[in-house]
Parts: sequence; structure tokens; C-alpha cells
Amino acid sequence: MSTNVRPIDMKRINTKELAEKFIDEQVALIKEQVGSDKVLLALSGGVDSSVVAALLIKAIGKQLVCVHVNHGLLRKDEPEQVVKVFRDEMNANLIYVDAIDRFLDKLAGVSDSTKKRKIIGAEFIDVFKEEAIKLDGIKFLAQGTIYPDILESGKVKEHHNVGGLPQQLGFELVEPIKLLFKDEVRLVGKTLGLPDAMVYRQPFPGPGLGVRCLGAITKDRLEAVRESDAILREEFEKAGLDQIVWQFFTAVPDFYSVGVRDGQRCVEWPVIIRAVNSIDAMTATIEPIKYEVLNKITARILNEVKGVNRVLYDLTPKPVGTIEWE
Ligand code: XMP
Repeated sequence: MSTNVRPIDMKRINTKELAEKFIDEQVALIKEQVGSDKVLLALSGGVDSSVVAALLIKAIGKQLVCVHVNHGLLRKDEPEQVVKVFRDEMNANLIYVDAIDRFLDKLAGVSDSTKKRKIIGAEFIDVFKEEAIKLDGIKFLAQGTIYPDILESGKVKEHHNVGGLPQQLGFELVEPIKLLFKDEVRLVGKTLGLPDAMVYRQPFPGPGLGVRCLGAITKDRLEAVRESDAILREEFEKAGLDQIVWQFFTAVPDFYSVGVRDGQRCVEWPVIIRAVNSIDAMTATIEPIKYEVLNKITARILNEVKGVNRVLYDLTPKPVGTIEWE
């Protein structure tokens, strides 16, 4: 499929049967395009790259080489899940790159959010390129481009879009889901057997927790973001809120709060909880969370997350506040 325009008569993929038909067609097309050559894919574990990986594994098995770059800004347990699902369960050819220190070194002392995003994007491309150069016989680069990316062309996916790289490395593109909308991508992923936690994930920014560890990132504050986010997700799941709320996360600012712990004055960070509903991320409203749920999350964060002595719930709709804090 080389056109970038969705044909008017293309049916919306909204049943398992249509998803199966799409998968069969794409498997045949991928086989035809790729032949016996190798394909490289940056596998972040997000919905789009995961669905592309699953499709390619079905079509060409070990001819696909997935590279998962762990930049240290992923949510708790995410890198492990990528390895478990793709290497252990789907038997994929997966290269896991631990680039955590490299990213944190580059980001040290950088507090401007635009600069942080640029550094994360550029470093990602550098790491990926280094891995690509080490490999022999790669002819194709697979990408999880989806139809909204084409419609909003110009808007570059910040961290796993490897724009410009195919040309630089002489790769040809394989983009099997480029004519699909997000709901169709999810259904195809589910039909391919990917876990719900991967397929129905809430939106997650390319620069990851990097834009939720506000200001200049430090290792300990980044851990506070990761741990508080994991507690929030766990409690939202228990309360069934993960099915209702569009996007929810925590952010940790780069200023301190004064508190009292065990009779001693303590100077630690606040954690901010954000839970918003939206359709297209252009505007957002606040989910009215039950007090008991907020109370439980607050107690757990204060007890379990190191260096945190205050929890806040952000009531700001978009506009005026953006969804992310930076
Ligand atoms: P804002 O904060 O602008 O966010 O209201 C709107 C949506 O976009 C996500 N977001 C990003 N996604 N790279 C991304 O891939 C980014 O740099 C980025 N910044 C914000 C945000 O999570 C929300 O869903």
C-alpha cells in the first residue's frame, strides 16, 4: 500500500472479521514488499509501534529486528513488558538498549522544556542510528505512522519517529498501518493477540516522564514521578477509573514543600495528580474523582514514595492549562 490517501470506499475496521481481513492483506503485502530482506523497527511499546511489530512478526518473523531503547523515561515496568511480550511470548528478534545513563547525562541541568524535548528526540535518533549501523543487511525501516499523523503532517512524533533516518541510512519504509485511525489500530492489535494493557493504553508523550519531572531532571525526582504514577495507575484500575478517564498521570515539580514526618521537619517535593477527559487533546475537562479514591492515592504516595511530603490534585481545564505541565 503506497498511497497516503485513505480510499473513500475503505471500510472502517470495526469488527474482528474486518481486522482479520486487514491483517491477512497486510501480511501478504509485507511479504511481497520485503522478500527475504531484513526490516528494522524502533519499538517503544506504544500502541502504534507494538501493532506494527506484531504485524511484521506475523509476516516475516525473525527478519524483523526490533530495537527497544530504554531512555529511562518510561513508566514503571514498561521496558520489562516490551521484552516479555515481544521477545519471550512472540519470539521476536529484539535488541534491548539500556541508554538510561546516556539520556540522563545529556539532560542534566537542562530545565527548559523545549530543550529537554529536543535533547530526548535527538539522543533517541543517535542511539537508534548507532544500533542500526551495527546491523548487517537491513534494507527496510518499519514505522508506526497512522492516518492522523499523515492528516496532521508536519507534526512529528517526538521520540520514536525516526524522520529523516530512512534516507540517511538508505532504508526503504514499511508503514502497514498508515491508513488506519487509532481505534482501528487498537482493534488490529487486539486481534493480533497483544495484551489489553498495550493496546488500550492512554496517550503517553514521546518524551515520556521527562516532561513530568518538571525542570531539570534528577534521578531521584524521576523515581518519585515513576513511583507515584504507578500508584495512581494501580488505584485508578482498582476504582475502574482507567476505563473512564482519558489521561491520568503525576508530575513532580522542581521546588520543595515543608512538612513534618515523625515529629521532624522535612523538606521534600510535592506530587501533582492530573486526570483529564478529552477527545482530541485540544481541550480537556477534569474528571470529578471521588474523595475516597483521592484520599487513598494521597496516603499511598505519602507513605510509599521517597522524598514526597505533599499531594495536590490539579483542577485546571484546558484551556487554560495544557494537559502536561511543561
Ligand atoms: P498538552 O500538554 O499540549 O498535551 O495539552 C496534549 C497531548 O499531547 C501529549 N503531549 C505530547 N506528546 N510529545 C508527544 O508525543 C510531546 O512532546 C508531547 N507533549 C504533550 C500530552 O500527553 C497530551 O495527550
